[in-house]
Amino acid sequence: MTASNAAGPAGADGAGEPPVPGRRVAGDAASADGMGERAVPGPSGGPVTSDSEEAVVTKAPLVEAPADTVVGEVVLRLTDVVKTFPGVRALDGVQLEVRAGEVHCLLGQNGAGKSTLIKVLSGVHRPDSGEVQWRGEPADFANPQAAMRAGIATIYQELDLVEDLSVAENAFLGHEPRRLGFVRRGHMARRTREILGRLGHPEIPPGRMVRALPAAGKQVVSMARALSHEARLIIMDEPSAVLAHDEVGNLFRIIRELTAQGIAVIYISHRMEEIREIGDRVTVLKDGRTTAANLPARETPTRDLVARMTGRTIEYVFPDRPADDPAGAELLQVEGLTRHGEFADVSLSVRAGEIVGIAGLVGSGRSELLETIYGARRPQAGTVRMAGRALRPGSVGAAVKAGMGMAPEERKSQALLLGEPIYRNVTLATFGRYARLGFTDAGRERAEADRIGDSLELRPRDVRRPVRTLSGGNQQKVVVGRWLLGDTRLLLLDEPTRGVDVGARAELYQVIRSLAAQGVGVLLVSSEVPEVLGLADRVLVMREGRVVREAPAGELDENTVLDLVMAGSLMEGAPA
Ligand SMILES: Nc1ncnc2c1ncn2[C@@H]1O[C@H](COP(=O)(O)OP(=O)(O)OP(=O)(O)O)[C@@H](O)[C@H]1O
Ligand SMILES: [Mg+2]
Repeated sequence: MTASNAAGPAGADGAGEPPVPGRRVAGDAASADGMGERAVPGPSGGPVTSDSEEAVVTKAPLVEAPADTVVGEVVLRLTDVVKTFPGVRALDGVQLEVRAGEVHCLLGQNGAGKSTLIKVLSGVHRPDSGEVQWRGEPADFANPQAAMRAGIATIYQELDLVEDLSVAENAFLGHEPRRLGFVRRGHMARRTREILGRLGHPEIPPGRMVRALPAAGKQVVSMARALSHEARLIIMDEPSAVLAHDEVGNLFRIIRELTAQGIAVIYISHRMEEIREIGDRVTVLKDGRTTAANLPARETPTRDLVARMTGRTIEYVFPDRPADDPAGAELLQVEGLTRHGEFADVSLSVRAGEIVGIAGLVGSGRSELLETIYGARRPQAGTVRMAGRALRPGSVGAAVKAGMGMAPEERKSQALLLGEPIYRNVTLATFGRYARLGFTDAGRERAEADRIGDSLELRPRDVRRPVRTLSGGNQQKVVVGRWLLGDTRLLLLDEPTRGVDVGARAELYQVIRSLAAQGVGVLLVSSEVPEVLGLADRVLVMREGRVVREAPAGELDENTVLDLVMAGSLMEGAPA
């Protein structure tokens, strides 16, 4: 197809807005700069050529839209799009209209079809029926490269970076700048550095292996990849899920620059306040259908949006705290725990039946602290005790034996066997209980998993499906659900509601509270301050690896916590 030549109906919907003055995007791989640089055979040949250039100082716009961009013009129109998987009608007649220069938000419960929809747009899936119109012409992208060439760039929910390639190689994967068949590594590194600089992250080295980056850094690389093409539409599937509070601000700045250039953005998030802040229009999906299109993002009441997503009205509520202090004996005692460069001298305790929440920015050492308590990292100083008994440092086995369970932050790499059925993933932690004489009792495993699936509104409900086929939010429910089965006495939860929709969140909160009511101690890390304040009994605020405040949740409010969390410069670095 010839999408890149297909001039849209110029000005048709432009309402008199002037077209954006266009120049070619700086990233054009065919541009003739970089003269005389050394070419190295690719794709995985020699090291990246060293660049002597200083970090790029950028005043230029992040990207420049193609010359014929008309702000306000409809660039994308979907009509009755259907996509089925075996046994699942993921898209069941979707309508969508996106205009140049807008931020169009997609809202819907876990499993509603949002990610499937964008995979249709980005050439990963082909629709069974219905029409995709791109810039006024029917489009059928045979593969992701075709969609990219047509100007559609996608940042996926589950980041699809190649861990063992460098930052630059990932950014230009599939369209490496070449000359005479050789990848121009120097040019690629320079371009990558420039894009990273514009994204506000000049500190990420283009030659660094992606594996070595933290989650937020990977997100930035994913974004750099999207911007390494001349794009007219950038799709972001829950980009904020791995970002800290301040990083979200940076993301929004980038989005505003993009839309000011006339680039359209499709933005998916379960966080209502983000949609209010960055969105122009909202389309709501429910069970693979469009239930509302083009609602104004700022004015539409949350109640209405949620009702269209769920078919009912759900208040974003937290379960009541028990009337009288429920907490029993001290279960977890942490004293003076230290890991250089991550956190220092942390002391805390969790009693049986108590929910303790830790607030703080990503990078404040919270996840590392949790992992150290769990024995996945070895502390340089300090002790961890369960019910008075000191645990062997750096031993997950000892922690599990003492009754600890942990739901980690990065579900895909740390927690799930993607190819295995849901029930196997749920029962993983307590596997021994289902094995008899070396044979596993799959029937019983499934029955137990069914029970968990019910209480967490897992969708689809068939626990024999491979986890890989679940939507992102439903995968998260499996990670947390696993610990609802065992004889866990202390549950460590790292961002348990990441990617979970508003309805299922309420269920998850309920489940966590009822575990506490049964005497389980919970230590919870969340970047969402309202969640920590709403769910926890007691709150610790961490900043730069230290606990800076501890108080009953009722004595803190969101602003106080945010002030504590943000105080001081992040650039001061990690604790000594
Ligand atoms: N490759 C696949 N094979 C089988 N079923 C799939 C596949 N991909 C998605 N599905 C199913 O399609 C439905 C829609 O999933 P999708 O990932 O689009 O949801 P979503 O709206 O993005 O949800 P979330 O908010 O949890 O990310 C779900 O029922 C999911 O299990
Ligand atoms: Mg999704």
